[in-house]
Amino acid sequence: MLFIDCRKMISFYKFFCLFLLILKYHHLCAADPTDGFTPVPLTEDNFVLQKPYNEPLDDRYSYKDGVRSFWIYNHDKPFKADSTTRPRSELRISGHDYSSGIWQFEGYTYVPSGTSGVTIVQIHGAAEGATSLQLRMYDGDIKYYKYNVVATDLYDKWFRVNIIHNVDKGKIIVFIDGVKKFVVKDQGPGDLYFKCGVYAAPENSSNFMESKWKEIKLYKK
Ligand SMILES: *[C@@H]1O[C@H](CO)[C@@H](O)[C@H](O)[C@H]1NC(C)=O
Repeated sequence: MLFIDCRKMISFYKFFCLFLLILKYHHLCAADPTDGFTPVPLTEDNFVLQKPYNEPLDDRYSYKDGVRSFWIYNHDKPFKADSTTRPRSELRISGHDYSSGIWQFEGYTYVPSGTSGVTIVQIHGAAEGATSLQLRMYDGDIKYYKYNVVATDLYDKWFRVNIIHNVDKGKIIVFIDGVKKFVVKDQGPGDLYFKCGVYAAPENSSNFMESKWKEIKLYKK
């Protein structure tokens, strides 16, 4: 009798442990932002670069061992001589018609501590104004423009960024390391495409700004 009770207890204990494990780790098997999406093939031709007009590309961008580095200085020139925009070293994903459907950007990024006041990824295009989304690094935290905090404590580490733009529904969802962090309405139709790199914010920019990117992918649903 005692023997059977013991076995029952052991079996209960095993299930209890399993239950605790599921509680602790269920997020690891939770849905991935790319579930249900189809990868869109990209070649180097899809990546269009912008940099201060008076600097050689090699002085503001490098691509080595799969890692793209983008860097600028606060007082760099804009991308065109006749532009009044802030300096940038950015990559735009071109060659697709983003005017309808559900699109997703994915990439891993690394921002060194000190880089601040800079957009590291954006959705270009809006009914009014130039962009529908800017994710900016300020002092280690990622913000929606200079407003909502999307994620914190991200200096000096690789993290994964997924941005879903449901153009048909006018909705944008931001994931950091696979976790949904921010949902916002887009800003209407426009000349839509994803960009990443560094684009100095209107104010509070550090003198040096850098982001590194790897495994940049585009998906569609
Ligand atoms: C920019 O700097 C000013 C002065 O330090 C500060 O009040 C403001 O909140 C900063 N803006 C952002 C978006 O961090």
